[in-house]
Amino acid sequence: PPPVPQRIEEKRRAALLGGGQARIDAQHKRGKLTARERILLLLDPDSFDEYDMFVEHRCTDFGMDSSKNKYPGDSVVTGRGRINGRLAYVFSQDFTVFGGSLSGAHAQKICKIMDQAAMVGAPVIGLNDSGGARIQEGVESLAGYADIFLRNVLCSGVIPQISLIMGPCAGGAVYSPALTDFTFMVKDTSYLFITGPDVVKSVTNEDVTQEQLGGAKTHTAVSGVAHRAFENDIDALLNLREFFNYLPLSNRDPAPVCECHDPSDRLVPELDTIVPSESTKAYDMLDIIHSIVDEREFFEIMPTYARNIVVGFARMNGRTVGIVGNQPKVASGCLDINSSVKGARFVRFCDAFNIPLITFVDVPGFLPGTAQEYGGIIRHGAKLLFAFAEATVPKITVITRKGAVQIIFRGKEANAEEEYVDKFANPFPAAMRGFVDDIIQPSTTRTRICHDLDVLASKSQSSPWKKHANIPL
Ligand code: COA
Repeated sequence: PPPVPQRIEEKRRAALLGGGQARIDAQHKRGKLTARERILLLLDPDSFDEYDMFVEHRCTDFGMDSSKNKYPGDSVVTGRGRINGRLAYVFSQDFTVFGGSLSGAHAQKICKIMDQAAMVGAPVIGLNDSGGARIQEGVESLAGYADIFLRNVLCSGVIPQISLIMGPCAGGAVYSPALTDFTFMVKDTSYLFITGPDVVKSVTNEDVTQEQLGGAKTHTAVSGVAHRAFENDIDALLNLREFFNYLPLSNRDPAPVCECHDPSDRLVPELDTIVPSESTKAYDMLDIIHSIVDEREFFEIMPTYARNIVVGFARMNGRTVGIVGNQPKVASGCLDINSSVKGARFVRFCDAFNIPLITFVDVPGFLPGTAQEYGGIIRHGAKLLFAFAEATVPKITVITRKGAVQIIFRGKEANAEEEYVDKFANPFPAAMRGFVDDIIQPSTTRTRICHDLDVLASKSQSSPWKKHANIPL
């Protein structure tokens, strides 16, 4: 055999080529980057340290033990690196090797970096592009999924976990992304479903394409499974870098503080006029959010799903904050099942990772109707209440306008309603009873929030001992 240094070099070269040039070309032809190209774009230059490049699958059935069926590194590239100087662990499934399918060895490689990430306290980013369980391995592959799911759950609330779906993701494979904090997708080239169109046709007789069943549009607008969709691999990876900057590395790490060139005492004069005084007139809550946060930068989560609530990340005086706002432009900003769940999940992420919450309230109430009641608005709405009540991070609420007052005056004279509006549709009754802390000039909102965040930075609040709470699911 050739000398050891030469063999190491040969294996390395083979690993870098994945499933070979022809398959790399096929990947490119579909508008997709390779697993390694994706990692290079995601991480800072020269920061990637790879693990397990020499690991090979262990299957001996179906001719899999022949050397032509072995690829150093198998079908996933794993390691750690930096994003804007901050540590991240990453795995990137390699579709050019057995369709990126998950062998026992592939699963072990992922589990190793998840364990390390949990130990040192750094996020895990998964770039998913896989044909699912490695058919030739059967049960060994399925057990690999169980090992990954367990770690997803153990790491939940400890380190941020992000999934970017960049190709197929079907069957059991969908549940690892679903267990992570954020799932992003690439438009046109990625899909997520439990069973594909053929199985759907045979069981329910529905005709549906892959894209209709589990493409980016479906999951970001209809099912709420994915949190954002991006145009292509490059756009997705660059956005992921930007998103990463908002996140703390772990639950022991304070939310990151960036250098801020936007003065914390900047007045926002347009706020004095954005909100119409008539409660029936709509305005865009995004305008308010953009005008208040640092540099007008807002990374919205689920922008096309349950649009009656707006959630996302921004910075105030350089510090990451989570923003929740009712959206009067959509369904008058009413809360319904989907917006409650969307809001609750976001609030819980922020609370788990020490990110202060700023809430802009302008809500007429929960959406009436049989669809909502039969759908369980009571237990779903309870999630949002639960999440806010359980959150111990700094919470700042800005009430931008009062909600509807018609209901109790049904059939009564107009002046009774007028009297009610006079009495309650202004901030004084709440302020006089101490339910709000202050009534502020809208243009000073940014200044006031930045100031309050400074004070609340040392907030410490503990809850009674429990194994875990029992949020209504
Ligand atoms: N196990 C082993 N090999 C797999 C695989 C898997 N789960 N999924 C894909 N591959 C292999 C294919 O056999 C093919 O190899 P070949 O070129 O040597 O024949 C290669 O990966 C590329 O797959 P291909 O089917 O040509 O790509 P595609 O883009 O046309 O289709 C999928 C992609 C994922 C839709 C398709 O491969 C598929 O349906 N895979 C099986 C999905 C599945 O049932 N998974 C198990 C249940 S969780």
